[in-house]
Amino acid sequence: MTPSEFDDLRCLLRQHSGLDLSRDKQALVESRLTPFARRGGFGDLAGLLRQVRAGEPRAIADVAEAMTTNETSFFRDRAAFAHLREVILPALSRSRASRRRLRIWSAGCSTGQEPYSIAMCVKDFGAPFDGWQIEIVATDLSRAVLQRSEDGLFSQFDVQRGLPIHMLLDHFMPVGETPVGQVWRINPELRAMVTHRPFNLLHDCAPLGMFDVIFCRNVLIAFDDATRTKVLAGLSQALHTDGYLMLGGAETVRRLTDPFKPHPDRRGLYRRDLRAPLAPGAMPFKVVA
Ligand SMILES: C[S@@+](CC[C@H](N)C(=O)[O-])C[C@H]1O[C@@H](n2cnc3c(N)ncnc32)[C@H](O)[C@@H]1O
Repeated sequence: MTPSEFDDLRCLLRQHSGLDLSRDKQALVESRLTPFARRGGFGDLAGLLRQVRAGEPRAIADVAEAMTTNETSFFRDRAAFAHLREVILPALSRSRASRRRLRIWSAGCSTGQEPYSIAMCVKDFGAPFDGWQIEIVATDLSRAVLQRSEDGLFSQFDVQRGLPIHMLLDHFMPVGETPVGQVWRINPELRAMVTHRPFNLLHDCAPLGMFDVIFCRNVLIAFDDATRTKVLAGLSQALHTDGYLMLGGAETVRRLTDPFKPHPDRRGLYRRDLRAPLAPGAMPFKVVA
């Protein structure tokens, strides 16, 4: 790949998915895309790049998919799930008691460990949510990881990373053996709490509806500042004014113009900052048809 081809690819990838590849990633990009170009029917890397430079949507989407980082695990970052159990769920069990409905968004859900960890927390919270309509919407840019989340199947390696043994026994069943160990399926009750949708965070969030809680963890870290600002503005429009946003431990909302303010003593947890200026194009009120 020539330096100019690589620059075009970086630019297209940033526009399409927000992924911000630094110049020193050329070798990584080549090593990921070469086998992918063959499997995807583009012939070789040059063939794939031709399609990308010609603006062919499938080629651009495929490259974005190949370049995403899908690292995840059950209860990744224990503090985030402590905030969910100790702050978010108790508060919402009171404030939503008359509506008895909760909508939680796992934005950038990868292979499903995050939305199912959320589902386990809500289920184990117990009686306060009995009979409630609980919907966890799991979205990702990558259709491949979304399909894996939808299948709800996890390897022995997956369940050994972060999932306490009593939760494995309570919420999963063994469904078969492979040469590398047992395969586990999430229980149907938890599986039914999670709805899957492909979604690019650079797009308008309105079709997904409004949420009480948004988990968007370890996703913004791959974006540049301008993209982060744009995505945060979109998330704020999709979150009820008294809702909660959870970011990853290494992600922060720093600028004064950001639409969120940090919880004073819960790292990674944010509320909407109702004093922040509105996102461009946003309206201060809801339009009712
Ligand atoms: C590192 S994983 C994080 C998974 C999970 N949230 C966690 O913290 O364990 C980041 C995920 O964000 C997704 N992603 C990257 N860019 C995206 C975009 N523009 N729109 C939606 N999802 C995106 C990737 O496909 C990937 O699955």
